Amino acid sequence: MKKGLSLIIMAFLMIGLLAACGTSNNESKDATSGKNEGKDKKVLIMGTSADYPPFEYIDTTKGEEIIGFDVDLAKALADKLGYDVQVKDMDFSGLISALENGQADFVLAGMSPTEERKKNVDFSDVYFTANHMIVTSKDSGIKTIEDLKGKTVGVQLGTIQEEKANEIAKTVDIKIENRNRIPELIQEIKAGRFDAAIIEDTVAEGFFKNNSDLDGFTIEDATEEEAGSAIAFPKNSELTAEFNKVLNEMISNGELDKLVVKWFGGDVK
Ligand code: ARG
Repeated sequence: MKKGLSLIIMAFLMIGLLAACGTSNNESKDATSGKNEGKDKKVLIMGTSADYPPFEYIDTTKGEEIIGFDVDLAKALADKLGYDVQVKDMDFSGLISALENGQADFVLAGMSPTEERKKNVDFSDVYFTANHMIVTSKDSGIKTIEDLKGKTVGVQLGTIQEEKANEIAKTVDIKIENRNRIPELIQEIKAGRFDAAIIEDTVAEGFFKNNSDLDGFTIEDATEEEAGSAIAFPKNSELTAEFNKVLNEMISNGELDKLVVKWFGGDVK
């Protein structure tokens, strides 16, 4: 009887031991999986708003991964500096505070280095420039800024496009509405609730491909600071200088142009 009991206890102990081995094996496997020397690399969190093709978006036909020009650029820069990148999706309007409260190490989100934002975060040099576009449905009859009189204009919350709308509102009587995500603006136009939206031209053009009922015209008065994209960092982060150095190397050796061609289809700006 006694022997039987101790055998059972032994068996349980063995199972426990094996289970413990099992987990520790798995753990060490996880730590070394992924890229070469991955376990030694520091992981930096990239904050972004993945609603902005071709900068950052999820191609649902291919999976759930966030891809795009900004993601490739971040990975290339980080790789040269010996970091790994983890991409974190959030609303555009929350990105600056994510940097401020340590939820992200840097932000690549087609973000423009405005004076207002520079009060709270630091920026790299500009890596891409674009223009604002007024997006409408094809039959809207809106061809100029003046045509927006009496119309409802949508913008993404917290963007420079929102500022642009406020500026337009000083001279043309428009009603401004904001949304958190770019596809929501597109939907509202298609549903007839918005007459127009202000969206960056390169991004708008991507949406035209799948929405032949939409059209747009660019407003060409944007400065680099107004419409350029730069990488944002927490104030006084050491990463700013590190990233800026390799960014400028990628600009001068043509690597950045290659990424522009890959994601924007040859239209090197
Ligand atoms: N360039 C504009 C800005 O800085 C819009 C960027 C929006 N980006 C995004 N991932 N939705 O305000």
